[in-house]
Amino acid sequence: MKILAIDDSNVNLLVMKGTLEKHLPDARLKTACSGKEGLELARSWQPDTILLDLQMPEMDGYETIRLLKQNSLTSYIPIIVITAADVDSRNRVRALDLGADAFLQKPISSHELVAHIKVMLRIKKAEERLRHSQKLEAIGILAGGVAHDFNNILTIISGYSTMLLMQTPSDNPQHESLQMIVDAAKRATSLTQSLLTFSRKQEVTPSKAELCSLVSSFEKFIRRIIGDNITLSFVCDQHTIPATVDRSMIEQMLMNLAINARDAMPVGGQLTITTSNALLENKTAEPLGLSPGSYIHLTVSDTGCGIPKDVLPKIFDPFFTTKEIGKGSGLGLSMVYGIIKQHGGAISVESTPGTGTTFSIYLPANDTPETVLESC
Ligand SMILES: Nc1ncnc2c1ncn2[C@@H]1O[C@H](COP(=O)(O)OP(=O)(O)O)[C@@H](O)[C@H]1O
Ligand SMILES: [Mg+2]
Repeated sequence: MKILAIDDSNVNLLVMKGTLEKHLPDARLKTACSGKEGLELARSWQPDTILLDLQMPEMDGYETIRLLKQNSLTSYIPIIVITAADVDSRNRVRALDLGADAFLQKPISSHELVAHIKVMLRIKKAEERLRHSQKLEAIGILAGGVAHDFNNILTIISGYSTMLLMQTPSDNPQHESLQMIVDAAKRATSLTQSLLTFSRKQEVTPSKAELCSLVSSFEKFIRRIIGDNITLSFVCDQHTIPATVDRSMIEQMLMNLAINARDAMPVGGQLTITTSNALLENKTAEPLGLSPGSYIHLTVSDTGCGIPKDVLPKIFDPFFTTKEIGKGSGLGLSMVYGIIKQHGGAISVESTPGTGTTFSIYLPANDTPETVLESC
């Protein structure tokens, strides 16, 4: 957690440093002793919260808030105004109207200050989650529309080139060119299918399945994908409640996650897949964008290279890849995301660079006989 304190008084900044070290030991604090310096630091360092003094020479707190909120690089950062001055209601409203998120008047207890910082972080995280899912929704609509039309065109290219290929004897010099067109059309069709999966435009064939047995029946295939130098373990809760799923989509999802785990462990490691029942309460369901209820919890963990913090927000974006050209399409996780969304579930990821990654997937359990999948 990164906190930026802007105050022209060195004493205030030192007190703040002491308070945070004691009550928020995980926080990293940077300080700026003028509004101008604070603006520059906020742009380059991107803190999670700004603690701002109001009365400063040259650029005061009001102007600093205005400029922070005006710049798209800093407008999302919550601002807590902390002042010792006797500010009247009109000016408190002015600061809040300009975009401050909280207004604290000294004296204020350290506990109260820390509680306010935590609230800001919660709000910021919720906003980031919302922005991220809105972004993926928008990309999905666009990608789905293009892929759908493109697929129709590819059907024509594929159909006519296959017909011509069949009519052309293999010793004809045009045979090889036609074969290349047919192969390219096949690759393009597979690409558009991936995009249709991401944008949830692919047809689903739902059936009631028990995730533990579905995963273990796919075990042989996963072993073949990951190779001999990666150990595979299944930890299955024997009594998992069934879910209504499209079997081939769940297999596709497992395959994509297994391929990524393999790529993250080039010198070998451990891949662990678990399934269990999970009863989500509002507190755990809400951050995942789910309603409270009964879910099947599937985790896929590896002991690979992990994902750097700045890469994490982009991994589900279509065509995002950190792999070299020709190795990654950047569509694996987009498909996983689309499949899980289409099943009314959610996915989250935790990763520590150098240690490994865990994908955590929740799919609605089929407690009631008539769970219906989102129609296409
Ligand atoms: N298990 C993992 N370990 C480390 N990085 C991963 C893992 N899974 C995904 N990633 C990261 O997410 C990116 C996107 O993954 P994906 O959509 O499957 O595309 P691709 O595998 O073609 O690159 C990868 O390029 C990689 O940087
Ligand atoms: Mg992949």
